[in-house]
Amino acid sequence: MAEKEVVETSEAQIAVHWQEEGYYYPSTEFIAQANMSDKGIYERFRLENFPNCFKEYADLLDWYEYWETILDTSDAPCFKWFKGGKINASYNCIDRHLKDNKNKTAIHFVPEPIDARYEHITYQELYVRVNEFAALLRDFAGLKRGDRVTLHMPMVPELPIAMLACARLGVIHSQVFGGFSGTACADRIIDSGSNVLITMDAYYRSGSLIDHKQNADVAVEHAEKDGQKVDKVLVWQRYPGKYSAKTPMVDGRDYFVNDLLKNYYGARVEPERMNSEDPLFLMYTSGTTGKPKGCQHGTGGYLAYVTGTSKFVQDIHPEDVYWCMADIGWITGHSYIVYGPLANCASTVIYEGVPTYPDAGRSWRIAQDLGVNIFHTAPTAIRALRKIGPDEPAKYNYHFKHMTTVGEPIEPEVWKWYHKEVGKGEAIIVDTWWQTETGGFLCSTLPAITPMKPGSAGPGMPGIHPIIYDDEGNVVPRGAGKAGNICIQNPWPGMFQTIWGDRDRFVDTYFARYCKDPSSKDWRDWPYLTGDAAVEAEDGYFRILGRIDDVINVSGHRLGTKEIESAALVVPEVAEAAVVPVAHDIKGKEPDLYIALKPGCEASDDMAKRISDAVCDEIGKIAKPRKVWIVKDMPKTRSGKIMRRVLGAISNKADVGNVMTLANPEIVEEIKAMVQK
Ligand code: WTA
Repeated sequence: MAEKEVVETSEAQIAVHWQEEGYYYPSTEFIAQANMSDKGIYERFRLENFPNCFKEYADLLDWYEYWETILDTSDAPCFKWFKGGKINASYNCIDRHLKDNKNKTAIHFVPEPIDARYEHITYQELYVRVNEFAALLRDFAGLKRGDRVTLHMPMVPELPIAMLACARLGVIHSQVFGGFSGTACADRIIDSGSNVLITMDAYYRSGSLIDHKQNADVAVEHAEKDGQKVDKVLVWQRYPGKYSAKTPMVDGRDYFVNDLLKNYYGARVEPERMNSEDPLFLMYTSGTTGKPKGCQHGTGGYLAYVTGTSKFVQDIHPEDVYWCMADIGWITGHSYIVYGPLANCASTVIYEGVPTYPDAGRSWRIAQDLGVNIFHTAPTAIRALRKIGPDEPAKYNYHFKHMTTVGEPIEPEVWKWYHKEVGKGEAIIVDTWWQTETGGFLCSTLPAITPMKPGSAGPGMPGIHPIIYDDEGNVVPRGAGKAGNICIQNPWPGMFQTIWGDRDRFVDTYFARYCKDPSSKDWRDWPYLTGDAAVEAEDGYFRILGRIDDVINVSGHRLGTKEIESAALVVPEVAEAAVVPVAHDIKGKEPDLYIALKPGCEASDDMAKRISDAVCDEIGKIAKPRKVWIVKDMPKTRSGKIMRRVLGAISNKADVGNVMTLANPEIVEEIKAMVQK
């Protein structure tokens, strides 16, 4: 197993430190209606009862054949849940609801205001559309069980329809966030080995119709250069029957889904009886190296975990209207817009655009129009809405019983505004801490049982047993209030199974550091390293401080510093690139990009812009650096290693510490003068 590289700068080191706050309690009305108000749940899920306690989650699903082994550890740390079980995720999210709820809305679609009318898709209609698209994927695209297909879709109902159609066939979907560039999409097509790309011609964002088809052309071109053939590009139309992009279609490769679908009207596809441990989807995420990791999620375990946590933590009942503002292109959208809510027969809202366009009242208008009563968003959106429209929520007639914050640490001040103004003092809040890898929540309060504490995610979820280690591998005693690396002692059903095609990287990244015995088949020997720093208070609540590795969390989106650095190196004059996180009052963090040029190259006027544009082309606009600093030289150790910690301190106007041991200490003052002027 690889040695862990020494990390010089991390988000955790520049985390905002705030005091422990007091508790807030749910109302008796909330407790009376909650799905989970039995305090015994923590007792039932204590470590001694692991793994059998998770039967409670599996029993929320319909199985074709019930499982035999709850947890198979024979290939540890690639754990298999509910082995022997046969199940289909599409069946569990749709078909099983038809008997009692076929006329209930499954998906409310809110387009950008330009399009005005909302769309409401019932469970019956979702059933029809998923079946027809599944037939098309099977009979026209030739996809079958175990194949991978890449989706590069915006936030429209056709995205969950495509996901559920894949799930019906046992095809492994890999949705790439719609805002990612064609090049980023290509990397994921290549890694997953997809021959088919599903996309859409265009979509709206902040008032403009964006040509999305051009990304497909870039993606296919790049993938094919790398030897990955893409036979078919299936293009949904934002306006069925009308093509909205300027980019031409390629004959014999690109097909309009809306045309093809006519051949499949009325088609029905029997759901595949998948093994519980068969992969359901891949979700790529950023890590320590430039290459994104395809987190592979299984079927039975994943679905059980998101169904259970949607029920117990999100408190979703069939009569609720639930709106999670995330993008389905991220794990939050997969677990808590699509699979979890639909498996619970909720009405889930999908909206196009951004919360702040055309005005700061948009979110609250949507909540009022649709009668949303469960609301789920990220600190970055809360901060933005608080800044531009602090009094807006009071103008609208909506009532939330429950709200979620997810994706980054939330400052207690922001939490209190969310509670008082958005939640109108009535809604409970859960601060859910988790990751792409974990499939579902790791720490959170249970809304009717554990009180809320602003700024703290809460205790481990039932059946999730966190532990904090220091850098030497010692356990930080519970309640010591000392920061360390937070790990999870046990596997759980929502946990990813491996990194697609790279088991060694899976083991090295997540388990090598604290593994007690690499040959062990006992789950107790494989604590999972989350990559976050955290503090546990006396009451067992965890406060998450940020990433300890080379990952930056920008507006709740995970970006690898190495990914941004490799993108900058595409510009021929660039010799070295170093990215550091800078604190930002809305986005949480932003990347600052330091550049040293090759000898003989001069910094021209447009150089910084060219570098910044290269980053946007390679990854997407979300990775755009706050600033590109072209420096004469990077601060380096005597062995030639770039000292990102020093650059991070300069960008954050913090103390750079002792730099006299550097090979070139004089450069520090020079960079400081440039950046801090
Ligand atoms: C951070 C998003 C503090 C954390 C679900 C984690 C959080 C990374 C919280 C995963 C929270 C997520 N409080 N930090 N409630 N939720 N994070 O994979 O650093 O996009 O490791 O999954 O976001 O980001 P990812």
